[in-house]
Amino acid sequence: MTIARSTKLTIVGAGSVGTSLAYAALIRGSAREVVLYDIATAKVEAEVLDLAHGTPFVGAPRITGGSDIELVADSDVVVITAGAKQEPGQTRLELAGVNVAILEKMLPQLVALAPNAVFILVTNPCDVLTAVAERITDLPHGRIFSTGTVLDSARLRWLVAEAAQVAPQSVHALIVGEHGDTEFPLWSTATIGQTPLPEWTDSSGSLLFPRERLESLTHDVVHAAYKVIAGKGATNYAIGLSGARIVEAVLQDERSILPVSSVLHGYRGIDGVALSVPSIVGAGGVQRVLDTHMDHREEAQLQHSAETLAASIALFS
Ligand code: 2OP
Repeated sequence: MTIARSTKLTIVGAGSVGTSLAYAALIRGSAREVVLYDIATAKVEAEVLDLAHGTPFVGAPRITGGSDIELVADSDVVVITAGAKQEPGQTRLELAGVNVAILEKMLPQLVALAPNAVFILVTNPCDVLTAVAERITDLPHGRIFSTGTVLDSARLRWLVAEAAQVAPQSVHALIVGEHGDTEFPLWSTATIGQTPLPEWTDSSGSLLFPRERLESLTHDVVHAAYKVIAGKGATNYAIGLSGARIVEAVLQDERSILPVSSVLHGYRGIDGVALSVPSIVGAGGVQRVLDTHMDHREEAQLQHSAETLAASIALFS
């Protein structure tokens, strides 16, 4: 991938998610300059060194970083991964108290240093944090949003692809709503290639995705992070790739349609709540949220997600 102009991506937080995102961004060439910032000096400096040692094997990007917040100055994109992470069995919403407090302290400083940047939140619960972030900053609408269900949609596409034995890139299916327990797939518009997903057959002509199969795929996506966290303590690689992918959409003004989470205003009756719906992502962040088709069940699931998140956001207003 060729990046024509100089682009600066700063990743805040040098934990497993921040470093995986930096690693993915370097390998993919998501930005010309990747900066890793964390308050833990020894840790961040060691992570930067380790990443820098690999740069002869990637393209042009360079990596720098440290614990001086001035490093954030003049970034084009700032990705925030700092905060407490889920312990086994813990929900994302249970992290809200501690991570909202961290965000409230840190975000105004970051915005002051990089007033023209697009801000992408990865820290959980990312939807709640996005709503709080919009309240405590005066960034133009769309310039602060979260990775939302981009990762969950990737998990769904991979699971469907494995079942259908096709490339995940040929599965067009989205998870929307909360990045959390109330998220749900838009089965009514999912396709494999051009074929509506419920009509997909195996080579003997049998339907591969009856209703029970869809329910079990949904369950597997919603519980995917819990499964990974139970086994290795955190999720990092796939969220790293998801974040890098979104950064590219912004820096290259792709106008790609991605299920990121931004604060909705009058979207199907939802107001002041951030959740994921298909959105056009390009220069300046979220350029437009799309009023996509939903059947009655999906519409009810969206409202349920919105109500769950509204209750959590209400604790912080
Ligand atoms: C994930 O879905 C934990 O939100 C993180 O992997």
